[in-house]
Amino acid sequence: MFDSLPFSWLNPTCDRLKFGIESCRHVTTMKSLYGRDLITTQDWSVEELERTLDLSFEFKANRYDHPLNNCLDRRTFFMFFYNPSVRTRQSFEAAATELGGHAQFLEPKTMRLKSGKSAGETVEDAAQVMSRYAVGIGIRILETAIEHYGQGDELLRQYADNASVPIVSMAHDRFHPCQGLADVMGYRQHAGTNLKGKKILQVWGKGALVRSWCSVQESILINSRLGMDVTLAYPPGYDLDPEVIKWCEENAETADSTFEIVHDLEDGYKNADIVYSRNWMTAGFYEDMVKRGIDEAKKNEIEIAAKYDDWITTKDWMSKTNNAFFTHCGPVDRNAEVTDEVCDGSRSIVYDVAENRLHVQKAIMALTMGKQ
Ligand code: CP
Repeated sequence: MFDSLPFSWLNPTCDRLKFGIESCRHVTTMKSLYGRDLITTQDWSVEELERTLDLSFEFKANRYDHPLNNCLDRRTFFMFFYNPSVRTRQSFEAAATELGGHAQFLEPKTMRLKSGKSAGETVEDAAQVMSRYAVGIGIRILETAIEHYGQGDELLRQYADNASVPIVSMAHDRFHPCQGLADVMGYRQHAGTNLKGKKILQVWGKGALVRSWCSVQESILINSRLGMDVTLAYPPGYDLDPEVIKWCEENAETADSTFEIVHDLEDGYKNADIVYSRNWMTAGFYEDMVKRGIDEAKKNEIEIAAKYDDWITTKDWMSKTNNAFFTHCGPVDRNAEVTDEVCDGSRSIVYDVAENRLHVQKAIMALTMGKQ
């Protein structure tokens, strides 16, 4: 059956032989995505991201009758959650079902894993054992489950080094690739398929939820990569990962687009085509959490954020834009990051973007772990 599929669905050359497949058909010179991990979109080529987005749109257009709808037939995808979720768990579970497979929910408390505080099974062993049961492993690990920034990323890469099936980030301390792809899909639906030269404002929003950097960092990476003009706006003290900022600058140079950081809201909103507001924590959060505990650290973050009363996306701020669309990865902290009026307004695409998580995750699973 797969012989008749368009080349964009095929995995013609296997560059990572996680599945032990020695040879694949050479239909085009495109590299295979079969067996590949997805820890950040920055690890994949633009061509690979475009192939994933193309298939996501196909799944959206042909949700229950696509030729790849049985590519996970009787296969299991493990969803390993250190932290809770609405969109990610439900969309992965639905995605696996729609591809003919099953997504199994796992939490660390149900496994006897070794940690800094307790004896147990090593990541090396767990990854290899899990690979004998499932065709892929998704992992979510955010701030409350780690002690320093980067530890979640290290864990995912340790799983990736030891598993023989793909590891997919379901959001970790540094990145959220499925969210980044779903965001882009939403922009193409609404702002046009050619996003070159469109301005996206990624703006910090006040709030009480103390958010991780993952969705914001993934957003500025993929959008600078795909040629949008990215403006990152935030108050003093909210600098993001310097390595990610450096990559964004390099991405923009390669894509012949722009990447800028501003601390002034007027500059940020002016002429924006898309506005994405989101709270994120200060760079000092993790250190504070280790010193004083998570509750005190969160309380401190909320006190700092409260100083920036203007940093909420309102109708007034949106009026300075180029009739921009409003987006947010969710969960939305209503009337803190954005007013109800904007979030529920005619230019809001938040639910379309949430829906897109399903389509992009189907595409990721089909391409990286689907039946060959
Ligand atoms: N955007 C996102 O990942 O949402 P959840 O935390 O609900 O999964």
